[in-house]
Amino acid sequence: MGDLEPRTAPPALESMTTVACVGIGTIGGGWAAYFLARGFRVRAWDPSPAAEARVHALIDAAWPALTELGLAEGADPRNISVHTDLAEALEGAQFVQESAPEVLEMKRGLLRDIDAAAAPGVVIASSTSGYSMTEMAVEAATPERLVVGHPFNPPYLIPLVEVVGGEQTAPEAVEWASRWYEFIGKSVITMDREVPGFIANRLQEALWREALHMVANGEATVEQIDRSITDGPGLRWPMHGPMLTFHLAGGPGGMAHMLDHFGPSLLSPWTRLDAPELTRELRDAVVAGCDEEAGVRTVPHLVAERDRAIIAVRRVIDGFRAAGYGSGASLPED
Ligand SMILES: NC(=O)c1ccc[n+]([C@@H]2O[C@H](COP(=O)([O-])OP(=O)(O)OC[C@H]3O[C@@H](n4cnc5c(N)ncnc54)[C@H](O)[C@@H]3O)[C@@H](O)[C@H]2O)c1
Repeated sequence: MGDLEPRTAPPALESMTTVACVGIGTIGGGWAAYFLARGFRVRAWDPSPAAEARVHALIDAAWPALTELGLAEGADPRNISVHTDLAEALEGAQFVQESAPEVLEMKRGLLRDIDAAAAPGVVIASSTSGYSMTEMAVEAATPERLVVGHPFNPPYLIPLVEVVGGEQTAPEAVEWASRWYEFIGKSVITMDREVPGFIANRLQEALWREALHMVANGEATVEQIDRSITDGPGLRWPMHGPMLTFHLAGGPGGMAHMLDHFGPSLLSPWTRLDAPELTRELRDAVVAGCDEEAGVRTVPHLVAERDRAIIAVRRVIDGFRAAGYGSGASLPED
């Protein structure tokens, strides 16, 4: 791990007014909407001439959900400027969230350029879904301040951010990034070591790998796979994650009984671990299945229904937690 010199200490959280978003597609635009809703000014850069119109459309679509969840004082969806020059976009930025395409060489060059232009002490986070900062930071002059800040789509509604540094990242930068995301209302997991895909994507992708296998083998349709989760285990996950869910599946004996009882029989599903070959046929079958399942629902329609459902679920779970559920302080019958 590297060191951050005292002269390059990141800004005090209370002094934060301005953040930069580099790459403003689905994720960068979602981050921009979130930062705006928390009352920050956003300076953005994206090489696509279509990016500015797209980000305004994304912010407008996200704003009703953000308003429902509660805006910070002074929050204004127009408090964003989109610049044609990266260095200009980074002027005055006290934090940078990079959300460019998931292409390693591009990330390397971009992080080098952001690092060269950002003010000293500014922490730079990448939204990467799976690259390690060790492999992305190789061209940067100041890798000490580069961290992964991995969000979930849509970043304006899903609280989780996974934070992890690379081999050359200063521990202070990881710690600052975690405090920053918490300061703006995120649920942060700070990882001590780099793992490809971090935590949640490893889990999501294990599920997706099995789903693709089942479509490829003609074992299940896209619609059956989706409903198997939304009407099945997915209903348990907002309150209890997969570990506590299986702890309960073990009955009074809990996880110990679960592992001792079912562990041996899981050898078969656990060992079907190779990635499915993503043939053209499989790709087309999954795409067609999604189109069929979506029916008349366009992407904006699906985004709106997803956002409303996430807010409703979050409200219920927040209410449960406020009543002491999840801490042992309160039981369901209280
Ligand atoms: N989509 C998801 O669910 C998701 C979730 C978490 C993290 N991520 C990560 O977020 C990042 C962005 O993904 P996305 O889904 O928003 O992709 P996207 O294709 O929607 O957006 C990428 C944006 O980057 C812009 N861009 C292209 N070249 C660039 C460059 N050289 N510098 C800066 N911007 C550039 C594009 O014009 C586009 O606006 C990726 O690293 C991805 O792995 C995606």
